[in-house]
Amino acid sequence: MILNTELEYKGNLFPSKIINYEKNINVLSFTADNGVVLQITVRRDSILRFRYTTTGIFENDFSYAITKYASRGYNHLEVEEETDVYVITTSKLICKVSKADMRISLYDALDNTLICEDELGFHWEESYQFGGNVVKMSKTAQPGESYYGLGDKPVDNNLKGKRFENWVTDSYAYGRDTDPIYKAIPFYTALHNKKSYGIFFDNSFRSYFDFCHERRNITSFWAHGGEMNYYFIYGPQMSEVVANYTDLTGKPHEMPALWALGYHQCKWSYYPESKVKEITSKFRELKIPCDAIYLDIDYMEGFRCFTWSKEYFPDPKRMVKELADDGFKTIVIIDPGIKIDMDYSVFKEGLDNDYFCKRADGPYMKGKVWPGECYFPDFTNPEVREWWSNLFQELIEDIGVKGVWNDMNEPAVMDVPGKSFPDDVRHDYDGNRCSHRKAHNIYGMQMARATYQGLKKFSYPKRPFVITRAAYSGTQRYTSSWTGDNIATWDHLNIANLQAQRMAMSGFSFVGSDIGGFAEQPNGELYARWIQLGIFHPFCRTHSSGDHGDQEPWAFDDTITNVVRKFIELRYQLLPYLYTAFWRNVSDGIPILKSLVLHDQEDTQTHYRNDEFVFGEKILVCPVNGPNQKGRRMYFPFGRWYNLWTDEIVTGGQEMWVDADLDSMPIFVSEGAIIPKYPIQQYVGEKTIEELTLEVYYKLGKETSQVYEDAGDGYDYIKGRYSLRDFKLTGKEDELIIQQFKTGKYITTYKTFKLNLHGLPFKIKKIEVDNVLIPIENLISSSNALVIDKEFTELHIMA
Ligand code: GLC
Repeated sequence: MILNTELEYKGNLFPSKIINYEKNINVLSFTADNGVVLQITVRRDSILRFRYTTTGIFENDFSYAITKYASRGYNHLEVEEETDVYVITTSKLICKVSKADMRISLYDALDNTLICEDELGFHWEESYQFGGNVVKMSKTAQPGESYYGLGDKPVDNNLKGKRFENWVTDSYAYGRDTDPIYKAIPFYTALHNKKSYGIFFDNSFRSYFDFCHERRNITSFWAHGGEMNYYFIYGPQMSEVVANYTDLTGKPHEMPALWALGYHQCKWSYYPESKVKEITSKFRELKIPCDAIYLDIDYMEGFRCFTWSKEYFPDPKRMVKELADDGFKTIVIIDPGIKIDMDYSVFKEGLDNDYFCKRADGPYMKGKVWPGECYFPDFTNPEVREWWSNLFQELIEDIGVKGVWNDMNEPAVMDVPGKSFPDDVRHDYDGNRCSHRKAHNIYGMQMARATYQGLKKFSYPKRPFVITRAAYSGTQRYTSSWTGDNIATWDHLNIANLQAQRMAMSGFSFVGSDIGGFAEQPNGELYARWIQLGIFHPFCRTHSSGDHGDQEPWAFDDTITNVVRKFIELRYQLLPYLYTAFWRNVSDGIPILKSLVLHDQEDTQTHYRNDEFVFGEKILVCPVNGPNQKGRRMYFPFGRWYNLWTDEIVTGGQEMWVDADLDSMPIFVSEGAIIPKYPIQQYVGEKTIEELTLEVYYKLGKETSQVYEDAGDGYDYIKGRYSLRDFKLTGKEDELIIQQFKTGKYITTYKTFKLNLHGLPFKIKKIEVDNVLIPIENLISSSNALVIDKEFTELHIMA
């Protein structure tokens, strides 16, 4: 199969028959006659790790992706030897290992159905050029199987029929189907017969995945070095697969600060200081909410990281303070390339301490980036990460910068064929010395990690904020991310939609696109439609290269400005809802965006849908993705959905037309939902929240909703200072009951809820709060709104 570099010399090699089996608690080892060893580790009932060596000797077991916090343990483990196979049984899975050739097949332990089976299974080719092997795995695709995930691939949701490469690459103005681009997340989820499983191939070398592209019924993956080392994660719910993968590779280490969920404005570049102030003042003047303003590379002195241009920013500390007083958090870019300049302290320190990457034969890795010729810190060395983290002290502690934006960390190198380091560059890899072939895909992740460590240290007791362009599996623990240098076209709006969904499905939710497009310029309509989509992305920032004109909310005309304001305001209103979705992501690994297939895998209509997605738990969104549209057709998943604008109810399981003029977009709320809202603020913390609005959507039947809040910053929430409200809604023909269950020690600033009741099928005659009749005057009857004490435990609204 595939490539194959060495095929003329020596083709695929395979394990031979098993001659020995050993069990050491949860680690099972099978040795073949020709020296191949397969090690199966039972991590959980639903997670098995498969690891192969062709020489009988495993490499040091080290991974940047797997977190030490990952859950472990299982309820049941039994191994039996049969005539042709070894059978490993957990409470979720049955795994059979063929004695003749080590091939694997996996079954659901409950009903014995086949989930996944090896075709050729593990095989390899020796790599004459580099040593080691090209390691390969092939599996038989099951009838009707489809595939999702794999990070930032700019393609339709379902990956079936396609082949991909994982090699993080600076991809200016990439397009649909460009591959690879900035991220390497070698994890996919598969679905067939209503059952879902995932495969995480934890190998940082250049790797490939083929989903029935080369051969119609074969799925395969392989890498140019390292071990065949993959985790099989069983669902059967796709949401469990994603949550378990996220548990394995890590949930974000902390909640994001609430302000980080506000709107961010960026451009390459806002300078000098007067320009920055002009932009921020305009936001306040036009009353368009905004929380963060970015400084791109021109804030530095000759693009030297950790310096400021004296000409453009003579007094950064004062400026950052003034911006902060106006509610703006300043975020600055920091790239990995350190300018070769003996008078530049960061360079000198790096050189003196031997922190820069070197070529195999000794010279430093020299490459051109924005500052000209640079050396690059070896972020895979823990000592270098520590040094790097300390470089942020002045920026954060002294100047007051609130976030750092890591870019070009693929690492990008200009004017060279591979756009990056050559293969022979040496890395520490946390004591597992290796070449760039192995370290390339994790380099950007380790840079973001070092930056995160610095921000965490110096922002304390506040929460850190980092954003990165390059990423490998697990990067979500440290940072948010964006999808890189896209283009101002309608198709890129679609691509942004797909990438944000796909990243969420790949364990990395805190992601957004350059709204409006980085390269070229959108017209007002495209910009407005993109903002409409962007406010539903966990990370929400406008950014543009700036060489094609302005891209601020007011850069078009008043109609556009008004549409943009309206939607950014909606984002600010939905902050407690979004924050709750983040909390579920941080605590349980639940993705913030759910592609329809993730929302309802049993409905085969969802398997090929791309545009619609569920934001949080209850809101269904579908962007308008073409010019001159007055609406669009979209698919509604099963259930009943309220139109956010009109309260009209749509029954799911069908495709329908939805009106959506430029000032609107298709947004629907699932019936029975209780959606929390804050008042519109120009920035997070502008207002003390005096009342929490709850949009209550009647349903005949039961539904639950949650609202999570805390101080919005700091770490007290970890010590129990959070407020979690679990609402149970029960709708009857003539009554609506809402129960509230409250946990956590955080006391919210507001004392009351304002309930807006949607879709009540009866006229209200009687209201009881905790068994006490309350005067009907509490009801604003014209709008079916009700103000009640936030401490209520049971509310009855009766006909
Ligand atoms: C890269 C980044 C872009 C940034 C530019 C200048 O192209 O992707 O976001 O504005 O570099 O720093």
